[in-house]
Amino acid sequence: MKAPEDLRSHRWFGGDELRGFSHRARSRQLGYNPEEHLGKPVIAILNTWSDINPCHMHLRERAEQVKRGVWQAGGFPLEFPVATLSETFQKPTPMLYRNLLSMETEEILRSYPIDGTVLMGGCDKTTPALLMGAVSAGLPAIFVPAGPMLRGHWRNEVLGSGTDMWKYWDDKRAGLIGDAELSELERGLARSPGTCMTMGTASTMMSVAEVLGLTLPGAASIPAVDSAHHRMAAASGARVVDMVWEDLTITKILDKRAYADAITTVLALGGSTNAVIHLIAMAGRGRIPLSVDDFDAIARRVPVLADIRPGGVWLMEDFHYAGGLPGLLSRLTDLLHTDRVTVTGRPLGETLETARVHNDDVIRTRDNPVAAEGGVAVLRGNLAPSGAVIKHIAADPRLLVHTGPAVVFDDYRDLKKRINDPALGITEDSVLVLRGSGPLGGPGMPEYGMLPLPDHLLTKGVRDMVRVSDARMSGTSYGACVLHVAPESHVGGPLALVRDGDPITLDVPSRRLTLDVDDAELQHRREQWTTPPPRYERGYGALYSEHITQADEGCDFDFLARVGENPEPDAQ
Ligand code: FES
Ligand code: MG
Repeated sequence: MKAPEDLRSHRWFGGDELRGFSHRARSRQLGYNPEEHLGKPVIAILNTWSDINPCHMHLRERAEQVKRGVWQAGGFPLEFPVATLSETFQKPTPMLYRNLLSMETEEILRSYPIDGTVLMGGCDKTTPALLMGAVSAGLPAIFVPAGPMLRGHWRNEVLGSGTDMWKYWDDKRAGLIGDAELSELERGLARSPGTCMTMGTASTMMSVAEVLGLTLPGAASIPAVDSAHHRMAAASGARVVDMVWEDLTITKILDKRAYADAITTVLALGGSTNAVIHLIAMAGRGRIPLSVDDFDAIARRVPVLADIRPGGVWLMEDFHYAGGLPGLLSRLTDLLHTDRVTVTGRPLGETLETARVHNDDVIRTRDNPVAAEGGVAVLRGNLAPSGAVIKHIAADPRLLVHTGPAVVFDDYRDLKKRINDPALGITEDSVLVLRGSGPLGGPGMPEYGMLPLPDHLLTKGVRDMVRVSDARMSGTSYGACVLHVAPESHVGGPLALVRDGDPITLDVPSRRLTLDVDDAELQHRREQWTTPPPRYERGYGALYSEHITQADEGCDFDFLARVGENPEPDAQ
């Protein structure tokens, strides 16, 4: 147990030096009396609320409930507005800014008199960004997931954000619905605050935060507007105060077992492939070795139990009523490390003892899984020496072993311009290749990985084809899409050397991705290849381009991921 003088904030507010005097005078200026905050844990509430972010629009108010909890437990709450990464509105992609928010998180926690933190967010990249920064800062930390929005509704149908947007847009293009229907859909697709309520990146990463042990049990799936979300926020604020006294830091919670359990959970949820990149980056900050191969190894023994869209039928709200993540995890205890400590201060297994599943359709039993094997496979071969990823449960099984001629697009613009060009001679056996879409080339690995099929094949009823890219894919997409090919084409990865007509072989059972062109010819092409000019000559884009790592390393900045001292500031 810590004493008040052991608090980090004591270095700012305690003592009889000039600095302590000055800091105390300034907290009077903030409007507080000494007894309200001196000797109490200072809790930073890092809030990613913004007027532009519909997924976090309730967090401004929800921070008040966190503060309520902090005060009640004898802490001193201070709210810090931090960058908002809105998956919908921020361009070219919030992935470009994940590391920026992680830096902001780390540096705010380091440079101010802070003893513990409550991290508030949930829209896609926000969760990994906040957690990466918190790991680097190393303080006691608790995560308050923004929570999913309510189910979408249109007429008598339940709608999933993302997935149904694409579906109805196709209906509109095909002339099946008109402007009136579309305008109704606009109002029904996303009808409350909160994150996407399908099993996209947001739901995946909020669930990751929970299974890692960084949220209160059951927090990840509470609908954003449910009163339970208010209570969870207050309880999280209260709990982090005790974590400070107990010195239960994030570093003590996150070990290799925690990351293994996170991978298990992502797979059992049929979660987003983006989790592969984020988990590697988060683990890297904690000096915990984690690689794409860990995913492949774990995927071979974890069944998919959550039947949630886009792969399945239900939505996050249904998942919550069915028992949420504790319910799901209670069916996987043999595959988890249940003796790990969580923010509760108790082992994960203790929470799971009382967890129940209330609907076996939404959270399947082990003998009736959605898929017997986890959804993600890691591929290697001369086209992806550092690995590539495929969510094979979302692909047409016919394509899982396939050889076809490449049709190459240099970037997304090229793809959009030429995909319907009859001169390309694309057949359903072709392999569509998109390059220039990786961490540097994209930049920020945009979610272009579900390459559109040409119209003439769609009309023929073709619904899936093998596609290969260095891009990512939205958690709400699917198809035989090979993603995250590393190294990317922009840095001269073999993807840069592919030419139209080259045979490419995808073989998921043997985890291979091969470009069937001989080495001498590839070497010849490599000699002709030139590095593209830098896209950014100044600014954050230049910093990003000079320091971003490849997908298999988590796309962190090299200077954030590396080992080394980052000294505590001298508060005096
Ligand atoms: Fe924010 Fe989907 S747009 S979670
Ligand atoms: Mg998304």
